[in-house]
Amino acid sequence: MSTMQTSFTAKCYDLWSKFYDYTFGALVHKRHVRAIKQLKTRPGELVLDLGVGTGMTLPEYPGDITVVGADLSAGMLRKAADKKREQGLGHVHLVQADAMFPPLAEGVFDHVMIAHTISVVSEPNKLLLWAERLVKPGGTIVLLNHFHASNRVVAFFETVLNPVFLKIGWKSDLSLEDCLEGTGLHVRYHFKTSVVDIWQIVVLSPTGPALVLRAGADVGEPGAVPGGVAAAV
Ligand SMILES: C[S@@+](CC[C@H](N)C(=O)[O-])C[C@H]1O[C@@H](n2cnc3c(N)ncnc32)[C@H](O)[C@@H]1O
Repeated sequence: MSTMQTSFTAKCYDLWSKFYDYTFGALVHKRHVRAIKQLKTRPGELVLDLGVGTGMTLPEYPGDITVVGADLSAGMLRKAADKKREQGLGHVHLVQADAMFPPLAEGVFDHVMIAHTISVVSEPNKLLLWAERLVKPGGTIVLLNHFHASNRVVAFFETVLNPVFLKIGWKSDLSLEDCLEGTGLHVRYHFKTSVVDIWQIVVLSPTGPALVLRAGADVGEPGAVPGGVAAAV
């Protein structure tokens, strides 16, 4: 990531931190809750929330695990720190860090959460390569994000509008396949919270075969293909 681009993104989110929780955050919050459930944490585990933002996910993690929230923007982190203090989240630790060069120990996190951040960083593929290095073998990486639509008409508008969205630091035409290229990550399952939702929850594993996808399985269960929207990658 160039220094200029990093400082643009950080400034953008410093500004946005003031109204994030009442705008985009409010819109996506119920998906945060569903995404965190997919981690299926056990007491004593260590979770990394990359691009933790204002910390809207933080109160949703169980109190019997340790959570490290990392973000580029000091403004976003200040809001996250307010939540930690006001809600007594002693199991949460916050660090200012660039996810393109994370100053974190490799292979120590049981799980990594990446919510609405992969479409914001300069190199989405590099973010997943890092997540793969940071998570323990057998751990879980959960992505919550919008990915390029499979519907051709919607995909056309996403591609056309992408230069506009890029001006506010967001890629609208991100493909999950491109993000995964060169990683050893497998899609275990992915789903949307409703058929018309534009965001997906994608559960990745660093090792082992992808689970067989089952049409008609319950939403959120391994192998689910709710409403036929999911597909093997
Ligand atoms: C759309 S917000 C999502 C925040 C939070 N995960 C959520 O879902 O509410 C994207 C976040 O990614 C952070 N971010 C962008 N580029 C980053 C980078 N290179 N390293 C770390 N954080 C980054 C931004 O500062 C911002 O807080």
